[in-house]
Amino acid sequence: MTLAFIGIGNVGFAIAHNLEQKGYNIIVANDNPNSQSVQKALTQNPNFKVLPVQEAIEASEVTFLATPFHVNEDLLKGLDFQGKPLVDCSNPVGAGISHGLDSKVSGSEKVQEWAPTAHVVKAYTIYGFENFSNPEYLNAKEKPAMLMAGNDSDAKHKVTSIIEASGFYAKDVGALDQALHLEHMTLLWVKMVRRDGHHPHFMWAYLEK
Ligand SMILES: NC(=O)c1ccc[n+]([C@@H]2O[C@H](COP(=O)([O-])OP(=O)(O)OC[C@H]3O[C@@H](n4cnc5c(N)ncnc54)[C@H](OP(=O)(O)O)[C@@H]3O)[C@@H](O)[C@H]2O)c1
Repeated sequence: MTLAFIGIGNVGFAIAHNLEQKGYNIIVANDNPNSQSVQKALTQNPNFKVLPVQEAIEASEVTFLATPFHVNEDLLKGLDFQGKPLVDCSNPVGAGISHGLDSKVSGSEKVQEWAPTAHVVKAYTIYGFENFSNPEYLNAKEKPAMLMAGNDSDAKHKVTSIIEASGFYAKDVGALDQALHLEHMTLLWVKMVRRDGHHPHFMWAYLEK
């Protein structure tokens, strides 16, 4: 399967590198192939290809959005996602590690509004990027959970297989309005680790009986 990544910094690279090693074809979607993060990513993984954003979307089955939230509106305007899944890893973060949209609406619902031709699935967001390249714990019975939310079941089905291939237990938590709560989970993790000094390689498991 071919995946496109808009944004190949901390988050985009960790996910893309993990998945490339599992056999996925990775296209870095950037209209400026000379950008710093693109060049760094290509040095670290020469198997990545680079295409302009619209061409990358057309050449891929699923696109990831791993950009600073504030660039998304301009970036997404005019792109045609052709009804394909768009995995939103971005988070609106405000002052003092608060929700950047005042918790009134999720960033992913705004992304869906700005990318009406995509089926947006929120995923790869509730932990720091350190956990996305290799989420395996050798002696653990359970895999860490990756929670996702979205309105389209076919899109979530595709994203489930990608999440599982990357080493997580995939849990669908419902429709895209649940993304707001995933964004708050991200803020919880970020405050615990970046502010309060908890270990950056901690994640949560989903247990059910
Ligand atoms: N850091 C974390 O632990 C973490 C965890 C979960 C989610 N997130 C969220 O994930 C997103 C990315 O975070 P990050 O830490 O990966 O950021 P980052 O390392 O700064 O990478 C950002 C990427 O976005 C690209 N970009 C910036 N402006 C762009 C534009 N106008 N058009 C196209 N591409 C653009 C950059 O490319 P250039 O080099 O071309 O500028 C770069 O590849 C953020 O929304 C963040 O809140 C972060």
